[in-house]
Amino acid sequence: MAQKKLLVVDDDSLIRRSLSAVLRLAGYEVSEAAGGTEALELLEKTTPDLVITDFNMPQLNGMQVLREIQARQPDLPVILVTGYGTVEQAVEAMKAGAYDYVSKPIIDDEMKMVIRRALDDRTLRDENSDLRKRLDMRFGYDAIIGRDHRMQRIYDTIESVAPTRATVLISGESGTGKTLIARALHHNSSRRDAPFVEVNCGALPETLLESELFGHKRGSFTGAYADKQGKFAAANRGTIFLDEINNASPMLQMKLLRILQDKEFEPVGGNETKRVDVRVVLATNLDLASEVEKGNFRRDLYYRINVVSVHMPPLHERVSDIPLLAKHFLKDIAKENGKRIREIDEQALDLLTRYTWPGNVRELENCIERAVVLTRNDVIRAEDLPPALRDEAADAPTPLDHGGVVPLKRALEAPERRIIENALRENGGNRQDTAKALDINRTTLFNKMRKYELLEKY
Ligand SMILES: Nc1ncnc2c1ncn2[C@@H]1O[C@H](COP(=O)(O)OP(=O)(O)O)[C@@H](O)[C@H]1O
Ligand SMILES: [Mg+2]
Repeated sequence: MAQKKLLVVDDDSLIRRSLSAVLRLAGYEVSEAAGGTEALELLEKTTPDLVITDFNMPQLNGMQVLREIQARQPDLPVILVTGYGTVEQAVEAMKAGAYDYVSKPIIDDEMKMVIRRALDDRTLRDENSDLRKRLDMRFGYDAIIGRDHRMQRIYDTIESVAPTRATVLISGESGTGKTLIARALHHNSSRRDAPFVEVNCGALPETLLESELFGHKRGSFTGAYADKQGKFAAANRGTIFLDEINNASPMLQMKLLRILQDKEFEPVGGNETKRVDVRVVLATNLDLASEVEKGNFRRDLYYRINVVSVHMPPLHERVSDIPLLAKHFLKDIAKENGKRIREIDEQALDLLTRYTWPGNVRELENCIERAVVLTRNDVIRAEDLPPALRDEAADAPTPLDHGGVVPLKRALEAPERRIIENALRENGGNRQDTAKALDINRTTLFNKMRKYELLEKY
């Protein structure tokens, strides 16, 4: 097994050196920093597996070091060495996400034990993240469900552009599958073994986003304690996915134009120019062409990024995909939850195809998940769907109005149910009168009420 690397941070050189010596003897590779700033620099250079830092230090103290590390490398365990008899420090450290604390005077065996435990935990977590990577492989074409003719065209497009370096702009409402398509583009390109780096341009304020994307030089603004590698550099040889690009500020738009044109950029506060080999995929949930007309988005940038464009239709416009997607999610989610649910009944399917799905595929996925968790049956029924969905769908036009084709029997069920329910309501739930009003016999009424689950209601 490779030698584990530790970083020991303490301004007291006596303590730092003796602790480092002990840990080297125990078989670790140890680097030392005499303060917080130096520690953050070493972090990038030495890539330690674990950091041990003193709490009380001039300039950056241990808590500040911990917070900086968490912002950069949230998975890196940090052990804080707290002052003698200062319980508050220990509490503060644990609350801030330290792996553990050891109080002074340091007992070598205790320190070694805490380190071993932290490193074991980390190995376990890394194995899990390997597993996640393998699951990422699901983001091939097979993971994309849909037979709608527009989806077919989208497959054709992404299949032909995936292997190229072409910039792709994906538009569509939230939850329509833009991220899924971006990942599929990456996984079906020769870049698949290099990183796929995702940045949401709507989630960060302008200045932070800029340094997130392009990196920064140490000292370029307050809080820039060390050089930081940006996402563009991190995505080298791979794909960068810029989500919600319609939110990019004018300044960022300018920088993006440059990187797309010349493949060059400068980190914030630095003057050396860097080059990267990155494939750029972007997503927008607004119509960028009209943002250009409104003056919110640079025209030259728009032309640059709109090389290949893919538009994801909202889910309610591809009604025939709803049952396919619903069944696909049911299979996956039931398996994950260890439940044996194989089917969605006709009435529930009917409601699903009639609902408008403002949250698109993501909302459908959540809806199926909710149903799987809630139901006690082995079939998903209308009653397992959210009440808001049932109400809206019950009032909605039939799928035929969307131009979709469904089996006649199923299409007629929903209106039939509504007619019967209205009649029952009019007649105060009296079955004799209801049957008479509907001109059917009571047995037929009873059977239909059972079918539509109206028996308990009336
Ligand atoms: N065609 C599809 N087939 C299978 N799953 C899909 C499809 N479209 C979307 N999803 C799933 O729906 C959810 C939302 O999709 P996502 O790509 O995150 O949407 P967006 O990025 O447009 O907001 C994800 O869990 C995704 O896997
Ligand atoms: Mg997305």
